[in-house]
Amino acid sequence: MRQTVSGAPRLRGAIVVPADKSISHRAVILGALASGESRVANFLGAADCLSTLRCIIALGVEVELDLDSLLRVRGRGLSWLREPSDVLDCGNSGTTMRLMSGLLSGRPFRSILTGDASLRSRPMMRVVEPLNSMGAEIHAHSTGTAPLTVNGGNLHGISYASPIASAQVKSALLLAGLEAEGDTRIAEPQRSRDHTERMLSAMGAQVIIGPDNSVTITGSDSPMLEPLSMTVARDISSAAPWMVAAACHKDADLTITGVGVNETRTGIIEILGAMGARVELMSQRGEGGEPVADIRVSSSSLQATDVGSSSIPRAIDELPLVALAATQAEGRTTVRGAAELRVKESDRLAGTAAILGAMGASIEVTNDGWVIDGPTPLSGASVTAGSDHRMAFLAAIAGLVATGETMVEGAETAAISYPGFWGEIDALASGAPQSAAR
Ligand code: S3P
Repeated sequence: MRQTVSGAPRLRGAIVVPADKSISHRAVILGALASGESRVANFLGAADCLSTLRCIIALGVEVELDLDSLLRVRGRGLSWLREPSDVLDCGNSGTTMRLMSGLLSGRPFRSILTGDASLRSRPMMRVVEPLNSMGAEIHAHSTGTAPLTVNGGNLHGISYASPIASAQVKSALLLAGLEAEGDTRIAEPQRSRDHTERMLSAMGAQVIIGPDNSVTITGSDSPMLEPLSMTVARDISSAAPWMVAAACHKDADLTITGVGVNETRTGIIEILGAMGARVELMSQRGEGGEPVADIRVSSSSLQATDVGSSSIPRAIDELPLVALAATQAEGRTTVRGAAELRVKESDRLAGTAAILGAMGASIEVTNDGWVIDGPTPLSGASVTAGSDHRMAFLAAIAGLVATGETMVEGAETAAISYPGFWGEIDALASGAPQSAAR
């Protein structure tokens, strides 16, 4: 599907973005392990989280999602999960595949995890190796990718120093560690998002956060977890396109309401702040065990910045949008330590440079980031998102701040995390944000 975006004369109003994708995945999985009914309001019913939902249903768990986005998961504890009668299809979702592989590692049956062509090209040994060293028997394709065959078994805890900061790897090991004998400890080079730790602790699991970016979970034969009762905060990764649009646009003032501002996710706010963007956090509060705020961003005079490894995990999905902001900033911006972007839903280092380069930006890909010189005016072009939702958001927002028309091929991929995205773009471009999450 192709979408056309025109430069908008002004960007004003309030926007409500969808629920957090990472938290929604975890709500289904953890709800399935609890003893009792979990009730999760504002669940994200987008393609990725529906992949997780279907996998959990295939393991015999009763799940209901109503039209008001209320999710009910009738958990009966880990031991109640049943061998699936078919392969588990994780669709496009790396979070589904990696978290499910951790969950299934301790279950005494065989399951097979597969996904679409993008997911089947992504590295899985990062979870397979540590999970196998806990006692699981997971076989990947010879290229280290899915399909994965998981033979779960008697797990024992390990102490694992992960070479990469990855919440998916950390969460897979925590899920396996829940029923492993002894403690499972995972240390990361930088701290990745901590939703799993927060939710497991709230459910009564024994989770200890160490000072050295480590987390330890104490396993048990039959872990008893309290059901969840929560509202999912709105996704900062879905707010980021509008934040960057407002910061780059000459006549903008947008407020995105009820956004999760967990400090393991707020790299985009800090990076935009360092670039001189006018970003304000208002009405800070808590929701579902997470800090939440309304984020107001208005037209800004942006300066170049250097983004290094320490900020990367906290802004990992927003980095293509940082590159867009850099094209509108005065001076040379460098982004380093972001090689992980090559193994997301697509190679986002290359994809970002292709989209922004086609629109007139000066952007060079390095081995682990970009060098971007600005400011350069952007002009509409014909670009492709491939099958990567974050590339669709980048192309659309670049189109909003460019002159002329931008044609985005592969626009349907936005539905992976933000089904109402294109409606919001149309409403904004015509001067009236819809103010309703889709
Ligand atoms: C996610 C973690 C991140 C992120 C992804 C969602 C999660 O991946 O890019 O979109 O929900 O745990 P990594 O943990 O592999 O960096």
